[in-house]
Amino acid sequence: MAVMRSVFYVPSNNEKMVGKAPTIACDVLTLDLEDSVPPAEKPRGREMIQKYLKADREKQAAPSLYVRVNNWETQMTNDDLEAIVYPGLDGVCLAKCGDAENVKRLDWKLEELEQRRGMEVGSVAIQLLIETAKGVMNAYPAACASPRVNSLIFGAVDFTKDMRVTLTSEGQEQLYARFHTAVAARAAGCVAIDCPYVAFQDEEGYKRSTQEGRQMGYEGRMLIHPGQIGPSHEIYTPSAEDVEWAEGIKQVFEEEGIAKGAAAVTYKGKMVDTPVYENALQILRTMEEIRAAEAKS
Ligand code: COA
Ligand code: MG
Repeated sequence: MAVMRSVFYVPSNNEKMVGKAPTIACDVLTLDLEDSVPPAEKPRGREMIQKYLKADREKQAAPSLYVRVNNWETQMTNDDLEAIVYPGLDGVCLAKCGDAENVKRLDWKLEELEQRRGMEVGSVAIQLLIETAKGVMNAYPAACASPRVNSLIFGAVDFTKDMRVTLTSEGQEQLYARFHTAVAARAAGCVAIDCPYVAFQDEEGYKRSTQEGRQMGYEGRMLIHPGQIGPSHEIYTPSAEDVEWAEGIKQVFEEEGIAKGAAAVTYKGKMVDTPVYENALQILRTMEEIRAAEAKS
């Protein structure tokens, strides 16, 4: 699974912010062509992205580069894709994904552009923003509609607009959709990425909300401000205690369980059976993936 603890957004038409982007040490850098860019500025955003794709990748801190494109209803998607699908692009995030048809259409267009531009077919990943009521209801079939889909982001800002409710930092109004999107992502074998936290100066609130999402199954977060990267990496990276616990479980289960023909043993006063053991192995695998990703960046 891809390491996507921090999916960091930069408005593509903002020269100052795009200028800083190469130094931002996030897991996925996303240059945005959607709602952080005003309609009249889209052509400029596309040009800035083309320039960014041509720049020296070695000098960019983030290991992956994605672009968020406008959804099909806007009639801008085709122009966005024509402008940005070039070597160096790792993925496209489709805003306001409504259903599986939206994804199939994107997959088809990506394949055409990859072929036309001498890129490996299938090399550009798809990430879906699940941020409308319809998108939530169709999240799982949409995630299964193309083998390119590797992650789903829950988008709280548009979701609350669509539901005609007020967006709060506590997020009671988002609970169902936030849980649903995480489960749909996991069911489809994708990474679940939590919604942006717009009160970017409230560090305590940010950490609380991120911990809460972590317990829903989210393994990364969509970020709008550089100050959110550090806390995200800390929360989504298994802690030293988690790793120690997992190593302890692995040892006990293998030595006292598997080796002796038992599938339930005791560790620190708690029952450990096969799913607990497999969960521990998953933590150790995640840790290895994060170490490998950090070594590369
Ligand atoms: N990308 C690159 N640099 C950013 C940044 C971003 N997303 N957000 C902030 N910065 C930079 C600022 O330019 C500033 O640089 P400086 O110290 O050289 O002046 C520094 O980080 C500190 O920023 P700060 O002053 O705290 O915030 P701000 O008022 O400049 O910006 C936002 C606040 C919300 C407007 C800005 O973070 C932003 O545009 N975020 C992305 C929005 C977005 O992509 N939305 C769509 C997805 S929901
Ligand atoms: Mg949105």
